[in-house]
Amino acid sequence: MKKIDKKKDIGNLKHIAFIMDGNGRWAKKRGLPRNVGHKFGYEKMKVVLKRCCELGVPVVSVYAFSTENWNRSKEEVDAIFGIVRDNLVADTPLFQEWNVKISTMGDTSKFPKDLQDALSDIKKSTESNTGTILNLCINYGGRADVCYAVNQVLAKKLAKVTEEELGKHLYGANLPDPDLIVRTSGEQRMSNFLIWQGAYAELLFLKQNWPSMSPKLVDSCITKFKKRNRRFGRVK
Ligand code: FPP
Repeated sequence: MKKIDKKKDIGNLKHIAFIMDGNGRWAKKRGLPRNVGHKFGYEKMKVVLKRCCELGVPVVSVYAFSTENWNRSKEEVDAIFGIVRDNLVADTPLFQEWNVKISTMGDTSKFPKDLQDALSDIKKSTESNTGTILNLCINYGGRADVCYAVNQVLAKKLAKVTEEELGKHLYGANLPDPDLIVRTSGEQRMSNFLIWQGAYAELLFLKQNWPSMSPKLVDSCITKFKKRNRRFGRVK
């Protein structure tokens, strides 16, 4: 992204995270297969990312595949993997143009080899980009994340686990904690997403299904975020 749109102030927002819910319902309403909903969902993810790039949001996380999503049909799991393998890779020039750096959170070692290669290639080819970070949460679960960190702390044979030490070993330890978590489709739950990192995140629940997201809705989420009174347990 060459120019950041300074017309809209994003306040102290450093990291916005999206639970992209409602792809299946969006498709069903239109008599389409669920997989088509995910395809439209992916396209909408790019629209949202582009707006975040224009606004200069440093980090955008998206919940693309959870540790629980393995329980879906093989066809649906393969369709989501296909989007990463084909669409995400084909869009690499776009991410370059937008100066987007791709990172991941989650255990990608459980993926087919070609998918692992596709993800590591796209991370490598965008690693020197300095704009918005697109953090793909993929085979990600908050509880698995905490276990992953605890196991690393145990391996260090430390006598005591502190929040600071554990935090160093979580996925995405180099990223700021999410300030705002947005979930679409009217559901109001966290579904095992960034449960440690999002301890003090502001939450927003939108009635629209994810494929109905728009740049305007991104702007309105940020406007609402700026009105929140964040106290982090302190008295104002
Ligand atoms: C939740 O909607 C969405 C998912 C589990 C998958 C989201 C994946 C994508 C948008 C494509 C891959 C994206 C990237 C960034 C590579 P749902 O299927 O649970 O919807 P429903 O509750 O209406 O059934």
